[in-house]
Amino acid sequence: MTTSFDNAAQVLTPPEPGLRYLRTDRAGELSLEPGGITIEHGRIATLEPTKDANIHVDASGCALLPGFVDCHTHLPFAGWRAEEYEQKVTGVPYEEIARAGGGIRSSANALRETPDETVLAQAQELAGEMLRSGTTTFECKSGYGLSTAGELRALQLAAELAQIVSQVTTRTALLAHAVPDGYTTTTWMDEVEAMLPEALEHARALDIFVESIAFGLDDLDRMGALAAKNCVLLRAHVEQFTTMRSVPVAIRHNARSVDHLSTIHPDDIAPLAASDTAAVLLPGAEFMGAEATAPARELIDAGAITVLATDANPGTSPIFSLPLIVGLGVRRYGLSTREALLGVTLNAAYVLDLQSELGSIELDKRADLVLLDRPAEHVAYRLGRNPVAATFVGGEPAYVRPDAAWRIAER
Ligand code: NIG
Ligand code: FE
Repeated sequence: MTTSFDNAAQVLTPPEPGLRYLRTDRAGELSLEPGGITIEHGRIATLEPTKDANIHVDASGCALLPGFVDCHTHLPFAGWRAEEYEQKVTGVPYEEIARAGGGIRSSANALRETPDETVLAQAQELAGEMLRSGTTTFECKSGYGLSTAGELRALQLAAELAQIVSQVTTRTALLAHAVPDGYTTTTWMDEVEAMLPEALEHARALDIFVESIAFGLDDLDRMGALAAKNCVLLRAHVEQFTTMRSVPVAIRHNARSVDHLSTIHPDDIAPLAASDTAAVLLPGAEFMGAEATAPARELIDAGAITVLATDANPGTSPIFSLPLIVGLGVRRYGLSTREALLGVTLNAAYVLDLQSELGSIELDKRADLVLLDRPAEHVAYRLGRNPVAATFVGGEPAYVRPDAAWRIAER
């Protein structure tokens, strides 16, 4: 079965094949030229259209991009926290909401009280929403378990979710998210260490929230050592509200990413930019929480591997649309279209260690693709409008917007 994408106004391709990532100061080398591609058996077969293909996709006027990769979400979770948002916008700080038993703790209570089927049904519905916004790969995290049994259940649910959604998913064990009642950070880290063999049956990365209201630099150091010992990736939520100087510690442990960075210390920008640790920026959380703005331009100009993600969660960022995140990133950080798109494709795939399989339009990669009904510059420009005409996962149309159905024709 061959599918030819014909006559696209723009096809986003990397400057060379086989890149693990592209430092964002090189984003201008991404090509957005007119053209087409052919896919065969779910993979990209040629970087040009094919006349006698079985299926033709009329991509005229469209941008053809790699499927979007959301490398930072907190799916699966239970319920929502809309009332907290109202508190937040009327002036109650997140830290205060959290200390009063809201925040992560309230989502942990909700998760504990919600049956598996209900949690999965909500997550599946959200995955559908993400697919309609062009997300073909996303990360799941635990972190709302706040007990050994709870964390293992969250990872198990994430594994079950993988079976019922169209997208490729990965699992990250965010085992140090909030300090559970009755524990200190150190005694909880002892629990984390004890649950690792089971947790890592389902997860390929470890994560930790380093913050004044959560875990400290020593705990990050310990999580880094545990990740290395178990040969999994280290990720870390850092410098979201408080400048903790987590970045040098994370780099020392060769973290795959440091996420948030809204309050990164200026002295930590150059070392981060020189490292292989990606800077995952979360403009949705910054916007919804009126947080500080990460110094994205400085990071990019210094040579960092920057990434944009939703941070989709019921608290700080109930946003599941990467086109919206691209729009927020472009406006808040002063990014070009190419810089923003790189951050939701190849560089995001690198964060999940899937870069050899997906994240860019190049030969032999999975045919995970998104077709936009307008040129790529419109994603940010028409903020809030969903530009996705169709989403293809492994070469199959997983979502086609009804008014774009005419574009796909069998011959
Ligand atoms: O990435 N900062 C820590 N964790 C999440 C928020 C979780 C929540 O509020 O439920 C984040 O923003
Ligand atoms: Fe997060």
